[in-house]
Amino acid sequence: MKMPTERIREEIGQTGTISFARFMELALYCPETGYYEKKKDNVGRQGDFITSVSVGSLFGELLAFQFAGWLDELKTRHEKLKIIEAGAHDGKLAADILNWLQANRPDLFSTIEYIILEPSPARQQWQEEKLRPFPNVRWCPSFTACRSPFTGILFSNELLDAFPVHRLGWDATRKQWFEWGVALEGEVFRWSRMPHPAACLPAVLLNLPAGLLEVLPDNYTIETSPAAEAWWREAAGVLAQGKLLAIDYGFTDDEMLSPARTQGTLRAYHRHHVTDDLLANPGEQDLTAHVNFSAIQKAGETAGLRTETFCTQPQFLTRILARAVPEKFFARMDAKQIRQFQTLTHPEHLGRAFRMLVQSR
Ligand SMILES: C[S@@+](CC[C@H](N)C(=O)[O-])C[C@H]1O[C@@H](n2cnc3c(N)ncnc32)[C@H](O)[C@@H]1O
Repeated sequence: MKMPTERIREEIGQTGTISFARFMELALYCPETGYYEKKKDNVGRQGDFITSVSVGSLFGELLAFQFAGWLDELKTRHEKLKIIEAGAHDGKLAADILNWLQANRPDLFSTIEYIILEPSPARQQWQEEKLRPFPNVRWCPSFTACRSPFTGILFSNELLDAFPVHRLGWDATRKQWFEWGVALEGEVFRWSRMPHPAACLPAVLLNLPAGLLEVLPDNYTIETSPAAEAWWREAAGVLAQGKLLAIDYGFTDDEMLSPARTQGTLRAYHRHHVTDDLLANPGEQDLTAHVNFSAIQKAGETAGLRTETFCTQPQFLTRILARAVPEKFFARMDAKQIRQFQTLTHPEHLGRAFRMLVQSR
């Protein structure tokens, strides 16, 4: 069982420099020892960062209310509707959604199938423990294993930001983009330029006006995640009818290029602090970058999906609530749930950076 540091050293030993995307992949997903493979408690107040799921069950309950509405629209034409979740981690969000459906929409609960798209056997085991009370949950390691296209909803919360990113920098002297890689200096990982100019530039950089390139500072840095875009395209490919929903922090192309942000959005989190050294302790800290929602939206549209909604988390959740109140969703809402709603929507908490993208077929 090799630790991420050992695996990364070996690969650097073979090639000299590896891309940051490969470094991130090994740090987070090295079998058994990567950050997301060995720890189940890294999300939440006891861990390294909180998510909307760890705020409490209200987030899942509001999503369940929305999902029920979407599934009702599909129900008349199809019998076996599916809710597919990816990036389910320890299964808490799935449990919140299923609990709400079971209590409030037993008619739907008894007919749907809840599928967790989970490539990691370790994470599947954590999820199985939590979701034992629900007989209608099953697991799929990949889109290919899900076999036939499905009707229903495929969604994720904070999955796309966890895909490996390539880190690109602008060389103002040579007037070209290069890719940041990782090399070894003695025992320590160091940033090092990859030997060739960056291949496969993202649309946001290909479409930059020439005048802007003239003033772009040397080493201006931006990330791109072809893996996240490919994943979204694949998701679109298995959706026969229904919705794809991504919930995550991220920007549009224009926001990505803010002049105030010259070093990109890549961050490392440990114990609720942003740490400076992205290359320190691989496997011990989370690595994450803002999602480029323009790129994700385009990937879906290219695969034939229609964009229904792109809005902030507060807008999305408030709209759900506005419909839920007359339907007595609030009959049992207490002070704790109101506090949860404030945390999910207030700009000082989770309300500023989080966006919701809904595409449909
Ligand atoms: C930031 S955590 C979010 C966890 C949870 N959704 C929440 O909001 O609390 C990202 C999760 O996505 C998982 N993940 C990464 N790549 C994945 C993939 N290709 N398919 C499914 N899950 C993946 C990671 O292992 C991790 O558990």
